[in-house]
Amino acid sequence: MSRADAVRIVPLEGWHAPHLEALQVTCFPNLAAAERMRAEHFLHHLEVFPEGTFVALADAAPDGAPLSPPRVVGLGSGFRTEFDLDHPDHTFGEIIDGGWFGHHDPHGDWYYGADVSVHPEYRRRGIGGRLYDARKALCRHLDLRGIVAGGALPGFAHHKHALSAEAYVADVVAGALSDPTLSMQLRHGFEVLGVLEAYLDDAAADGWASLIVWRNPDWSGGAGRSAA
Ligand SMILES: CC(C)(COP(=O)(O)OP(=O)(O)OC[C@H]1O[C@@H](n2cnc3c(N)ncnc32)[C@H](O)[C@@H]1OP(=O)(O)O)[C@@H](O)C(=O)NCCC(=O)NCCS
Repeated sequence: MSRADAVRIVPLEGWHAPHLEALQVTCFPNLAAAERMRAEHFLHHLEVFPEGTFVALADAAPDGAPLSPPRVVGLGSGFRTEFDLDHPDHTFGEIIDGGWFGHHDPHGDWYYGADVSVHPEYRRRGIGGRLYDARKALCRHLDLRGIVAGGALPGFAHHKHALSAEAYVADVVAGALSDPTLSMQLRHGFEVLGVLEAYLDDAAADGWASLIVWRNPDWSGGAGRSAA
């Protein structure tokens, strides 16, 4: 089994919930505890919009040794929303309703990306990209406009004393700087529409985030949308 074959992207199931809670702590060490999702949130997502959450399961340890049961190593979660790109200011906590996805709109024409995260031991082997691909396939299936999200800027902490968030993001977009998260998102077809102030309770990045979108090239323009 190759390293890529050893990881499956699967729909959310109840037993994943406590493992996803632990994954949040590992993947978002700088985020305030109140902004990390917990097991009860993931169980609730099964009621609200189960199609919107994808879980990466590893059938092998990082060194390739077989694992049974599989290990939860990645998450891509989100919900449907009407998003006004002309008035994009929002915070992470309010849009995800404290993790409950209470603003999920079954007729919303955007997928709001609440979270993509991969365990550090499993990064840089394409799992994050596969989670984005799963979301893109969902957007095509539901005929949504695309994905909109506030993007974490983990590399900004090292530059915030010299650069504004706008200047940092512009340098990452231009390729002059590389950000562990934003550079990867740009390579996966996202575009930056701006920056969001006080988006996250994240002292390292002083709360700044990017506003990113991926536009579904197959979106029909609104005709024949299906609800889910
Ligand atoms: C952002 C994150 C989800 C990326 O996950 P990942 O599984 O490492 O993503 P990928 O492997 O698809 O891509 C990461 C890099 O590995 C590279 N890569 C992919 N497969 C590879 C392979 N087989 N060998 C070597 N490199 C590989 C990709 O080209 C990419 O490079 P880039 O960053 O220079 O573009 C992960 O770093 C993470 O959890 N970060 C912390 C949480 C976070 O910030 N989440 C985003 C919130 S908006």
